[in-house]
Amino acid sequence: MGEPMRVPVGTDYEVLVGRGILAQAVAALPAGVAKVLVVCTESVRQQADTILDGSRGAGLAAYQAVVPDAEAAKTAPVAAGLWAQLGQADFTRTDAVIGVGGGAVTDLAGFVAATWLRGVAVVQVPTSLAGMVDAAVGGKTGINTDEGKNLVGAFHPPAGVVCDIDTLATLPPDELRPGMAEVIKHGFIADPRTLELIEADPAAALDPAGPVLAELVARSVRVKAQVVAADLREASLREILNYGHTFGHAIEQVEGYTWRHGTAVSIGLVYAAELGRLAGRTDPELVARHRSVLASVGLPVGYLDPDGSRWPALLAAMRRDKKSRGARLRFVVLDGLARPGRLEGPDEGLLHAAYQRVCGD
Ligand SMILES: NC(=O)c1ccc[n+]([C@@H]2O[C@H](COP(=O)([O-])OP(=O)(O)OC[C@H]3O[C@@H](n4cnc5c(N)ncnc54)[C@H](O)[C@@H]3O)[C@@H](O)[C@H]2O)c1
Repeated sequence: MGEPMRVPVGTDYEVLVGRGILAQAVAALPAGVAKVLVVCTESVRQQADTILDGSRGAGLAAYQAVVPDAEAAKTAPVAAGLWAQLGQADFTRTDAVIGVGGGAVTDLAGFVAATWLRGVAVVQVPTSLAGMVDAAVGGKTGINTDEGKNLVGAFHPPAGVVCDIDTLATLPPDELRPGMAEVIKHGFIADPRTLELIEADPAAALDPAGPVLAELVARSVRVKAQVVAADLREASLREILNYGHTFGHAIEQVEGYTWRHGTAVSIGLVYAAELGRLAGRTDPELVARHRSVLASVGLPVGYLDPDGSRWPALLAAMRRDKKSRGARLRFVVLDGLARPGRLEGPDEGLLHAAYQRVCGD
């Protein structure tokens, strides 16, 4: 890929996308940083070691924290362990945290950085596709509690984000695929070229060694970067990033969080497209395109509920979703390709009819 691609997030920071660029994480630290805590999981220890070596080579005092895998990292006790480590090593306001891993690690590392001494710098090095195109960009950080996911957190934009496509080589395919749902979502809401690239060669889109996936990551990061730069706190524009997420979140809840987020979002995208069609907003060809492009990369486009018995629980979950205002549901729908709009308070008959379409009638 040569020189990394640099995607600005407003004037705040840059996201670098390239290959063999882990060392750039050190370069992205603000001037004056003397100590870094590199937070990672066992699954990406090698990549974290490269960054530790680079930090020491640059004259920094570098510490490492290997945290439990996936959601087990996003807990108060794990965060408290990192605060203890920072305290024992006398980290000051001008020191920094580097998060290396999937979205769970970058959420945790960002949250610990946001809260240590009321906020120190964090550089994010996402190593999963979902982390690169979604979690690490935008400044949302957080941990889970026993009551639910992401209930405790802070907005804390990073000092920089480094997406090294080479790190995806060790990511299991079953983790890569769900991230592709977010890439496809970005394609539908803002970047049709993304869809064309996937449709032209779906296998290439999933190949971490080839050029297509790198381009898809860069394009996807650009979409998210443009939206969050315009709207840090999710007031209105940022809401378009929730395309497919209202129904996707409901599936995650009803399935007891046993599904990968992106897998549920894939079905959520088909649901939002069908809802848009039934509301007279989205044309049928565009709905069909959702199904074909998602299926081409092995993502599910239908939900199995032969007797329809799960609908009440799914509807209740959608009503609880934080994006609805009171009991009134709000959806992002497409008024055309790359033309997201809002659908406010659709009636229950319409919501159910879209569900039947997703369940295959
Ligand atoms: N902050 C945000 O805006 C935002 C947005 C979306 C998702 N998220 C959060 O992100 C998390 C999901 O992120 P995820 O899908 O990356 O899951 P994850 O962080 O749980 O990682 C998935 C699995 O892949 C492994 N892994 C990651 N990179 C690897 C690599 N290069 N090689 C081998 N294994 C690797 C991890 O160890 C883990 O087992 C959730 O906690 C979600 O809430 C946050």
